[in-house]
Amino acid sequence: MNYDSPSLTVVSTEVEPGAIRWRSPSNIALVKYWGKHGDQLPRNASVSFTLDGAATDTTLHYSARKAAGEGVEVELYFHGTMKPDFTARTKKYLERLLPIYPFLQQLSLRIETSNSFPHSAGIASSASGMSALALCLVSLEEQLFGTMTDRDAFLRKASYLARLGSGSASRSVYGTAALWGAVSEVEFSSDEYALPVADRIHPVFQTYHDDILLISKTEKSVSSRAGHGLMDLNPYAGARYAQANRRVVTMLDILRRGDTENFGELLESEALTLHALMMSSHPYYTLIEPNTLHVIRTLQQFRRETGHPVHFTLDAGPNVHLLYPDTVASEVRNFIREHLLYFCEDKMYLADRVGKGPQQLPVNETSSD
Ligand code: PMV
Repeated sequence: MNYDSPSLTVVSTEVEPGAIRWRSPSNIALVKYWGKHGDQLPRNASVSFTLDGAATDTTLHYSARKAAGEGVEVELYFHGTMKPDFTARTKKYLERLLPIYPFLQQLSLRIETSNSFPHSAGIASSASGMSALALCLVSLEEQLFGTMTDRDAFLRKASYLARLGSGSASRSVYGTAALWGAVSEVEFSSDEYALPVADRIHPVFQTYHDDILLISKTEKSVSSRAGHGLMDLNPYAGARYAQANRRVVTMLDILRRGDTENFGELLESEALTLHALMMSSHPYYTLIEPNTLHVIRTLQQFRRETGHPVHFTLDAGPNVHLLYPDTVASEVRNFIREHLLYFCEDKMYLADRVGKGPQQLPVNETSSD
């Protein structure tokens, strides 16, 4: 796929100032992406549920640039405050997109962004943030050039652009569930963008909750970027990539059949494998905390006692995601409140669930803060 388009330039005097707003959710990987190469290409395929509540709301304001200059002219406001570090990162990202969107250099951009989840919750916002921005950019292309009227092509390009910002963000542009990475068993699957797989998901999984137990809100000691990098020298890397590609196919089959038991087993093994890869990197590191293990053990006991299909997964951090179908929601909520909040920082958790994907919003609505 080559999206380079030298012809996408504007006549500055003809650009009317405008704005575009998208709200895009986070996602939770069921089979994890861990290890990359080249221009943000994955070493293995991954599959995720798209979340509902945890989302980023981004408004992209644009107008013709007053004076021609090098690079992209952009300012980024996070929850209403100008953020020099986010601005610098976003500028760098947008400048990487110049071969695809040369018109970005001809505009003056102001980005207002806010997350629905608490600022200090220790929840990664790169998937929701990068997908929201990518969707705004493709909408901007459509607004300026009318080249993006086909919805599938629109979302595919947004997924591609989101991937260049953060790999996992490529999956957030689709509701319910998404597959990113080429696997021979799935036609059109690609390392360059994610595919929607909502129509292959059994109804039981469409009702799934994801309650995120906030074990620690402290910023992680090793970033995802560094973690991916360490996979290059991990002695288990080759076996892991092959395993993950097989597991994606198995997981898709489980999701199609509505098999909640095998879902849970694979989900949990994926979480522990991700952290085992961190522990077997050089230098080795741990991101789980003692309370992560306490939650896992307590959950295993609850499952033995009740037989309820509630299972855990982990991201690249200590927080525990509990995934379960709606049929057991009230029992699981009671269990969380009575037995698990004790292990959470400030007794906090976020109740989320599988969601329908990003939404374009009218610009004049007040941003969620
Ligand atoms: O998208 P990144 O570079 O932040 O990497 C995310 C990696 C995991 O969250 C650990 C797994 C995944 O597939 O989302």
